[in-house]
Amino acid sequence: MTAPARTTRDSAELIAAEEPVLAHNYHPLPVVVARAEGAWVEDVEGRRYLDMLAGYSALNFGHRHPDLVDAAHRQLDRLTLTSRAFHNDRLALFAERLAALTGQDMVLPMNTGAEAVESGIKVARKWAYDVKGVPADRATIVVAAENFHGRTTTIVSFSTDEVARGGFGPFTPGFRVVPYNDLAALEAAVDETTAAVLIEPIQGEAGVVIPDDGYLAGVRELTRRAGCLFIADEIQSGLGRTGRTLAVEHEDVVPDVVLLGKALGGGIVPVSAVVARREVLGVLHPGEHGSTFGGNPLAAAVGTAVVGLLEGGEFQRRAAELGVVLRDGLSELTGKGVAGFRARGLWAGVDVDPAIGTGREISERLMREGVLVKDTHGSTIRLAPPLTVTEEELRTALGSLEKVLARG
Ligand SMILES: Cc1ncc(COP(=O)(O)O)c(C=O)c1O
Repeated sequence: MTAPARTTRDSAELIAAEEPVLAHNYHPLPVVVARAEGAWVEDVEGRRYLDMLAGYSALNFGHRHPDLVDAAHRQLDRLTLTSRAFHNDRLALFAERLAALTGQDMVLPMNTGAEAVESGIKVARKWAYDVKGVPADRATIVVAAENFHGRTTTIVSFSTDEVARGGFGPFTPGFRVVPYNDLAALEAAVDETTAAVLIEPIQGEAGVVIPDDGYLAGVRELTRRAGCLFIADEIQSGLGRTGRTLAVEHEDVVPDVVLLGKALGGGIVPVSAVVARREVLGVLHPGEHGSTFGGNPLAAAVGTAVVGLLEGGEFQRRAAELGVVLRDGLSELTGKGVAGFRARGLWAGVDVDPAIGTGREISERLMREGVLVKDTHGSTIRLAPPLTVTEEELRTALGSLEKVLARG
């Protein structure tokens, strides 16, 4: 008897099949995920892994959170897209609740994080010309070294990562780069042409770099004094990750503009937003900016459900409480393979002793232990589990890390 025809491909075959047909702009771990729930994913062969990356914080509420899936299903059955040529019946509520959650007045809905950053830059420049009175085409934006704000040509123009920039010039002018966490350097770079200071409250891709206490409050004070905008890119740090709704809240700071993305779409659809005070976002008039998919009813329905999850404060509390478990666990491993770490809430950058392996090697070893993480630069790995992770699951992941480090 002949064997039945194979209808599915295994993980190795699927990985091999990608090679000739997919652009090689990523180097994923060799795991092929087929299904997921909560903090767990399952590969094609049915092996289970604890997801300690959570889609770079796009999955703050875990995979397929029932409230979010339900909101998406209900919306899929009614209306998915109108474009902004027409109004849709979901968008007003999304904007009202997101503005209230973040303490701002107005919302500009977009899709990806990079689009929110681009939109924030455009709004800041327009504000500089229309409100501040900067001469045409002279506006500058001050950013921090080691930043990560996305991948568009304008955004990589002010990246300090040569891999992200190299080969993509010519670059967009109008940016000044200063060291992160250095208020004196920031002060020296700001002048009458400055439209905004754009920073991440915690630098995610740089390795979860947390500025000194007082830095964010200092940026707020400095930008207020200089009459320019403070734009906080909370695309990775925001929406509960650090134990607060926004990471700037750790210093009781309210920026002029907050950029959100990733978790705003609940891990279901790309949803991003610029949220800001009325006198800032009010500079935009019809035709000056837009997006076919921005603010679509499916995105708005899921985004509203995301805001609903955060309004109760439970996820922020979990991140703060379990963050203590994460921090304690990493403290115990310090000197036992961990050279150092930085953590806030359920988010940590862990520098592994380079003698034990690169971040990539540690990530691959953890994968074989059933834990998924992602390396950043050199020997740093980052941990960002879904905020729904249980204490037991978190301890399991820390146990696996201990095992991998002990083996060296
Ligand atoms: C702080 C920050 N800003 C912007 C982005 C870009 O988001 P996206 O990949 O959705 O364009 C990222 C993505 O990692 C980010 O971490």
